[in-house]
Amino acid sequence: MMQSFDFQSPTRAVFGAGSFQRLGELSRELGFHRSLLVADRGLVATGYVEQATNLLRAAQIEVIAFHDFEVNPDTQMIEAGCRMLAPREIDSIIGLGGGSSMDCAKGLNFLLSNGGRIQDYRGYGKAEKPMLPMIGVPTTAGTGSEAQSYAVISDAEAHVKLACGDPQAAFRVAILDPELTLSQPGAVTATAGFDAIAHAVETYVTTKRNPLSDVFSREAWRLLERNYERVLIDPQDFAGRAAMQLGSYFAGLAIESSMLGATHACANPLTIRYGTTHGAALAMLLPAVVRWNSSVAAQRYAELARLANIYSGADDLEATESLVRRLTQLATAGELNQNLSAAGVRRAELPVLAAEAAKQWTGQFNPRPFDQAAALEVYEWAY
Ligand SMILES: [Fe+2]
Repeated sequence: MMQSFDFQSPTRAVFGAGSFQRLGELSRELGFHRSLLVADRGLVATGYVEQATNLLRAAQIEVIAFHDFEVNPDTQMIEAGCRMLAPREIDSIIGLGGGSSMDCAKGLNFLLSNGGRIQDYRGYGKAEKPMLPMIGVPTTAGTGSEAQSYAVISDAEAHVKLACGDPQAAFRVAILDPELTLSQPGAVTATAGFDAIAHAVETYVTTKRNPLSDVFSREAWRLLERNYERVLIDPQDFAGRAAMQLGSYFAGLAIESSMLGATHACANPLTIRYGTTHGAALAMLLPAVVRWNSSVAAQRYAELARLANIYSGADDLEATESLVRRLTQLATAGELNQNLSAAGVRRAELPVLAAEAAKQWTGQFNPRPFDQAAALEVYEWAY
């Protein structure tokens, strides 16, 4: 039985080399006058912040820059930013950078437009007042946040990632300029790219998947699987970078309706507790989760294996094993740790991590029912 769907992307996607140059024009079209430019500190050195400022000023738009947040922005950073920015009469927001910049832009939007605390917006559709219009400009290929109406903000106290969704938290425009992704450092290419790979694989098997998310997941997987190693070997491979950026965007679109699964649920506690980079945590867990889910999802995993031409036989479990091997190979190409022990996680900590993984929102969409005992099993398999 196919799942029904109700889909309309609220985000206009402008893709192509040089599309970043249209930032001023597109902002003007949306009626921006005083824009908050949210970009992580690391991005200032690339020159993109200055370029964005110049493009906006040339379009008579006043720019207020905000860089006071770290990777995986948390509730305290967003609240502090909001206190500082509230008096500035901002009428629009531009998120420029990786997932952290875009999540921070969305988080600030909730508080600047609707007040309260980030926790108030956990779930979907909690913003009662109009939110500010936003443009997203990703400079990494991975998160897919530019395609989503969810902000993912770490709860500074409760050790969970809060997923705050609202139709208005989606960007009005996503500018997808592959040229901007050429500046990603190797380690970012590896971890962000693996994040996108995990999105493609997880969205393809969730309980919420539908015929449309399948289209996005499959095309994302096809593009990402084929190009991940290419851009790691040659960072200036423009066609490869463009394919990675599109793949990440399609995977983001898949998440919007299909959600995610056990890999993300188990990865979040590693990030919150140990500061493990999101994509690096996923690389340690995804092969184990694919194996763990194979009793209920082998047929779906087999489709991905056949799509990547890594298995041509008729046995779905064998095909799933080839997928596991391929994912491990991709993680190796990205020089990412293969298991939790290699990353220095202590075995004695696994039950604590499992208790936290079971509280993560994304686990509920995993194809095989996922709870604390399940999380412990996944961690053991990934150890
Ligand atoms: Fe992710």
